[in-house]
Amino acid sequence: MQVKKIAVIGAGVSGLGAIKSCLEEGLEPVCFEKSNDIGGLWRYEKTPESGKPGIYKSLTCNTSKEMTAFSDYPFPDHYPNYLHNSKMMEYLRMYTRHFGLMKHIQFLSKVCHVRKHPDFSSSGQWNVVVETDGKQKTYVFDGIMICTGHYTEKYLPLKDFPGIKKFRGLYLHSWAYKHPDNFVGKRVVVVGIGNSGADVAGEISRVAEQVFLSTRRGAWIWNRVWDNGNPLDTTLFTRYNRILEKIFPTFMINRWVENKLNARFNHANYGLWPQHRFLSHQATMSDDLPNHIISGRILVKPNVKEFTKTSAIFEDGTEENIDAVIFATGYTFSFPFLEDNSEILDSQHSMFKFMFPPQLEKPTLAFIGILQPVGATIPTSELQSRWAVQVFKGLKKLPSASDMIADINRRRKKMEKEFVKSSRDTHRVRYIDYMDEIASELGAKPNVFSLFLWDTKLAREVFYGPCTPYQYRLQGPGKWTGAQKAILTQRDRILKPLRTRMVKHTGPSSFSLFGVKVTCAIFCLFVFMLVIMQVIGH
Ligand SMILES: Cc1cc2nc3c(=O)[nH]c(=O)nc-3n(C[C@H](O)[C@H](O)[C@H](O)COP(=O)(O)OP(=O)(O)OC[C@H]3O[C@@H](n4cnc5c(N)ncnc54)[C@H](O)[C@@H]3O)c2cc1C
Ligand SMILES: *[C@@H]1O[C@H](CO)[C@@H](O)[C@H](O)[C@H]1NC(C)=O
Repeated sequence: MQVKKIAVIGAGVSGLGAIKSCLEEGLEPVCFEKSNDIGGLWRYEKTPESGKPGIYKSLTCNTSKEMTAFSDYPFPDHYPNYLHNSKMMEYLRMYTRHFGLMKHIQFLSKVCHVRKHPDFSSSGQWNVVVETDGKQKTYVFDGIMICTGHYTEKYLPLKDFPGIKKFRGLYLHSWAYKHPDNFVGKRVVVVGIGNSGADVAGEISRVAEQVFLSTRRGAWIWNRVWDNGNPLDTTLFTRYNRILEKIFPTFMINRWVENKLNARFNHANYGLWPQHRFLSHQATMSDDLPNHIISGRILVKPNVKEFTKTSAIFEDGTEENIDAVIFATGYTFSFPFLEDNSEILDSQHSMFKFMFPPQLEKPTLAFIGILQPVGATIPTSELQSRWAVQVFKGLKKLPSASDMIADINRRRKKMEKEFVKSSRDTHRVRYIDYMDEIASELGAKPNVFSLFLWDTKLAREVFYGPCTPYQYRLQGPGKWTGAQKAILTQRDRILKPLRTRMVKHTGPSSFSLFGVKVTCAIFCLFVFMLVIMQVIGH
C-alpha cells in the first residue's frame, strides 16, 4: 500500500506535534508554514506581520512545564516550572531536532486553498494550493491537519467604544504591545482583564504615572504559585480532584475555590468580584495584580463608556485624563483557505470533539488545537493528532454523521449550562475530561484500576499526582517505555529548579495535600453528607 501523504498546515506547537504523530505512524507529513520559522505564537518578534500571533517580550507560560510538555519529551529537569517564551522556544527547537521534524517543514509557504479532489468521495483526497515566493503550486494529499492556531486575528470592537476615533493619544491592541518603554510616565487605560490585560497592565504600571484597568465583567484571579509554592496546575489538575469535583455539587466547588481566592485578597474590596461563579468562566492567571492594586499603581475601573480627545469616561461617571489605551480584548480566528468548503466552514463551531467536520464523506481532515483547554495546549493538541492519524489510517472509525451531530449538540447544551456566554467559552473544555475522552478513542487512556494491581506506586502518582501528559503514553498506540519513569520523576523535575541553594531543613512534605489523610477526611465528610441528606429526606 502506498504511504499516505498528510498536509500539516502551520508549524506552531500543534503543527510540530502533528508532524511527529504522522511520523510515529509511518505516514508522510509535509508541513507548510507561512513564516520563516517554527514556534507560532511562542516566537517573539518585535514587529510581527499582521495575521501572525503576537506576544509581548516578557510573556511567561501560565501552565507549568510538567503539564505543558509533549507526552514523550519532558522538559529538562533544571528548566523553571513557568517558562519564559524564549525558553519555550528552546524546548520546541530541541523537540524538533530530537525527532527530526525540520526536514518535513516547508517555510515561507502559505496555504491559500484547500479543496476536495475531484474524486474525493472515493479517495478522500484534497488539493492544496500553496504559495511560495509569490508562485502558487497545487499538491494532492490524502489527509489534512489544520494547525493554524486560534489567537491570530485581533478582536478589537471599536464600535463599542464611542469617541475612540477622536482620541488624540495612542491606542493599540495588546497584540501590538511588546514592552513598556513607550509608556514611561504616561497615564494608561488597559481595557480587559484576561491574562494579557492583567499582565500588560501590571508591567506598564511599574513605569507609568498611572494605570487604569477597565473591566466590564470582573474576574476571579488565581496565581501560578499555589499551596506550598507548588505550581497551580500540578496541584489542582489531578484525577483525584476531578473525582471530588464530580462527587460534590458545583456550588460547593465554586464556594471552596472562591473562598480560597478571596482569602488571598478580597475580590470585592479590590473591585474585581465578577458576576459569574468560578467554574463558569475563564479565571485570570496573575500573581502580581493584587500587589499592583494595593500599591495604587493600578486602579480598577468599570467599562469605558466613552472616550474624548484626552480622556476616558467610565460607566460610573468618573473621568480620567489619559495618554494611551491598550485594548486587551482578545482574539478571533478564521480559516480563509477553506472558503470553498461551505460544509466545513458552516460547522466551524460544531466539530466532532472539536476536530472532525461531521458532514464530510471521508474523515480525512482534522482541526488540531482549535479549542480552549483549561490547561496546557501542547498535550491536548498532541493527543488530538495521535487520534487523527489513527483515523486517517482507518485504524479507528468515526461514528456516523448523525451520531456525531448528536454528540456535538449534547456537548453544546452542556456547555451552555456550564459556562457563561462568550466566544472563547464555546471552545472551552475541562482538561482531564477532554484528554480522557480523546485518549479513550485512541485507546491510550490509562487504566488506573489495573495499574493499582500491578504497580501501586505508579498508580498512586497517576491518581493523586498531577495529570501529566506522560500518563497517555503508558498504554495503547504510541506507548512509550519512558512514560513510567517520567511520571515517577516528575516531582523531582518540579523541585530541581527551585532548590538552587541547599538548606538543611527539608520543610513540610510539599505534596502532603495529596495524602491519604485528606482522602479519609473527604470520604468521612461525604458519608456524613449522605447521612444528613437521608435524615432531611425523611
Ligand atoms: C498570550 C498568550 C499566552 C498563552 N499562554 C499559554 C500557556 O502558558 N500555556 C499553554 O498551553 N497555552 C498558552 N496559550 C495558548 C497558545 O495558543 C498555545 O500554547 C499554542 O501556542 C497554540 O499553538 P498552535 O500551534 O495551535 O498555533 P500557533 O502558535 O498560532 O501557530 C500557528 C502557525 O500556523 C501558521 N499559519 C497560519 N495560517 C497559515 C497558512 N494559511 N499557511 C501556512 N501556515 C499558516 C502560523 O504562521 C503559525 O506559525 C497562550 C496564548 C496566548 C495568546
Ligand atoms: C493561559 O493564557 C491563555 C491566553 O490568555 C489562556 O487562553 C489560557 O486559558 C490560560 N491558561 C490558564 C491555565 O489560565
